[in-house]
Amino acid sequence: MQTVNTVSDLRAIITPWRLANESVAFVPTMGNLHSGHLQLVNEAKKTADHVVVSIFVNPTQFGAGEDFETYPRTEHEDREKLEDADTDLLFLPAVAEVYSQDAKTTVTVTGLSDLYCGASRPGHFSGVATIVCKLFNIVQPDIALFGLKDFQQLAIIRTMVRDLNIPVEIIGIDTVRESNGLAMSSRNGYLTDDEKKIAPRLYRSLCAAQDAVLAGRHTFPDIEQQALQFLQEAGFRPDYFFVCRSSDLQKATGEDVDLVILAAAKLGKTRLIDNVHFSR
Ligand code: PAF
Repeated sequence: MQTVNTVSDLRAIITPWRLANESVAFVPTMGNLHSGHLQLVNEAKKTADHVVVSIFVNPTQFGAGEDFETYPRTEHEDREKLEDADTDLLFLPAVAEVYSQDAKTTVTVTGLSDLYCGASRPGHFSGVATIVCKLFNIVQPDIALFGLKDFQQLAIIRTMVRDLNIPVEIIGIDTVRESNGLAMSSRNGYLTDDEKKIAPRLYRSLCAAQDAVLAGRHTFPDIEQQALQFLQEAGFRPDYFFVCRSSDLQKATGEDVDLVILAAAKLGKTRLIDNVHFSR
């Protein structure tokens, strides 16, 4: 695996691939890699001739008081995992390489960015859309892969790619879970031992809500309320829990068929998000 820190070094490696008509799959990450990320790399390998991974803890997607400073940076271990996964190229830029000091341009996918996680984390999704757009321009991949755990993020990226005519195919990959159901996340490392026992109940609440919908219950506000109460009693501070249409993430009605149930809740100082998507 080659590692580069600058855009020009990255382009010097990728340009000959392009000239030889070889395809590039891209996995953007913020590092602290776990099996979910490695699943993206494995899937990427099946889709293209070369796999490029970026590790960049993007400051613009963290709000004031959030965990930008303390976000786990595990470059050495990440590098080994990517080597083992047979990654071709790792892009590991510094903040100054990515953002010019007087940058004046950002990308915002309106509407969708203000809902759910966007309501609790103002500006977060503009930070995500801006960095993903920039990374797409830097790497110019044929394919880019993202985890479905961040369902809203993926919907925003798909919308951005459509609206800005970015020539990249976006692939969503299923959430990788611990054996107890907890969705893998770099932030799980913040959980205390006691919280680790409680955390899988977030997924359990989603599965119970899915079962209720599949059993024919159409009163989604009641299902949501019940889940919020379950989470509160388990020790979470729930942020939101909504049954949505998966096509546009608007609140679902009794007629909608393709659904996603989105949830976020804080456990101690850790903010967890998860979802289930299904058809009925
Ligand atoms: O999902 C993430 O890890 C980040 O939001 C991403 C897509 C790498 C952008 O910084």
